Amino acid sequence: MKAIVITRSGGPEVLAIQELADPVPGDGQELVRVEAGGLNFADIMTAKGGYPGAPKPPLVAGREFSGFRSDGQRVMGYIQWGAFAERVAARSELLWPVPKEWSAEEAAAFPVNYFTAYFAYWKAGLLEPQKNGRNRRVLIHAVAGGVGTAAVQMGKLLGIETYGTSSSEEKLSRVKELGLEHGINYKQQDYEQAIQELTHGEGVDAVFEMLGGEHVAKSARCLADFGCLIVYGSATGQKSEIDTRLLYAKGTSVHGLWLTYLSANRELMGRAWNQLSSWVAQGYLHPVIGRSLPMEQVAEAYRWLGEGRNFGKVVVKIR
Ligand SMILES: NC(=O)c1ccc[n+]([C@@H]2O[C@H](COP(=O)([O-])OP(=O)(O)OC[C@H]3O[C@@H](n4cnc5c(N)ncnc54)[C@H](OP(=O)(O)O)[C@@H]3O)[C@@H](O)[C@H]2O)c1
Repeated sequence: MKAIVITRSGGPEVLAIQELADPVPGDGQELVRVEAGGLNFADIMTAKGGYPGAPKPPLVAGREFSGFRSDGQRVMGYIQWGAFAERVAARSELLWPVPKEWSAEEAAAFPVNYFTAYFAYWKAGLLEPQKNGRNRRVLIHAVAGGVGTAAVQMGKLLGIETYGTSSSEEKLSRVKELGLEHGINYKQQDYEQAIQELTHGEGVDAVFEMLGGEHVAKSARCLADFGCLIVYGSATGQKSEIDTRLLYAKGTSVHGLWLTYLSANRELMGRAWNQLSSWVAQGYLHPVIGRSLPMEQVAEAYRWLGEGRNFGKVVVKIR
């Protein structure tokens, strides 16, 4: 089979298409004929050699995919590496049926973004209906990206007011079409100040934080009383900075979220899929594809995402 191999640690230049033997499914695994792979920030970190738990190169890239099971059923799935190949051996419980009307690209763009966004709302306690009269609010960083666009669709269906940051007016206007209520261009405006103004000093109930560095404390300062910060990435590559005394004043909290870890919890993943598949069936969720490239152009796909030029998801077509 053809596979996209990370030949050594580095940038997009270390990726190569190679001919490898088909993987042999182990216990609880199934062989899937892959059609498309969804590209994630974690794939860029894996190629650089900085992703926790990933083996040393050479290894096959990619952590989510869509394709066909041996019985012909269309599935989308999640794995830690090995997805960007013509065949993948994946755990059966991390394969989900593809909604009939979705393309292979749309299906490949679903698992990571939508499970992550779901768990962010879940950890923030925002899946429950609101109890007091005030509208609930969430601030979503990188709102025009893969997880960001999924979080906007979910915020809309949950009746939560969404605030989102991006570097570009064009991206923000496209996310507004998906239902984003308040776009903040952080190149033109300080987002902490914007949240103060837009919420009349009250703040937001949750921030989905994936930038790291100074943004952890800055995002915590955007929180309302008893609000919660969901930390799930560090796109800046900088170590998180926060003095936890900052959390005292408003009784706020910080929670970590890592899909790699949560995906091993069958019960939790099953509950998440029940809810997600019901929202999909009702037409609330639809993966947003910004760019789709053939596997021969995988380096360009990595560059596009790594430079923050994407809108929604970048997909790699395997066949
Ligand atoms: N913990 C988990 O389980 C989990 C799961 C999925 C994703 N993540 C994390 O969530 C984040 C988003 O992942 P994604 O795959 O959906 O990517 P993405 O949001 O589609 O792309 C990254 C976006 O981040 C913004 N950005 C801000 N600062 C950046 C910087 N210094 N370098 C590059 N981009 C920057 C860019 O948008 P603007 O130009 O609009 O700002 C860029 O488009 C990543 O940090 C990823 O590691 C974590």
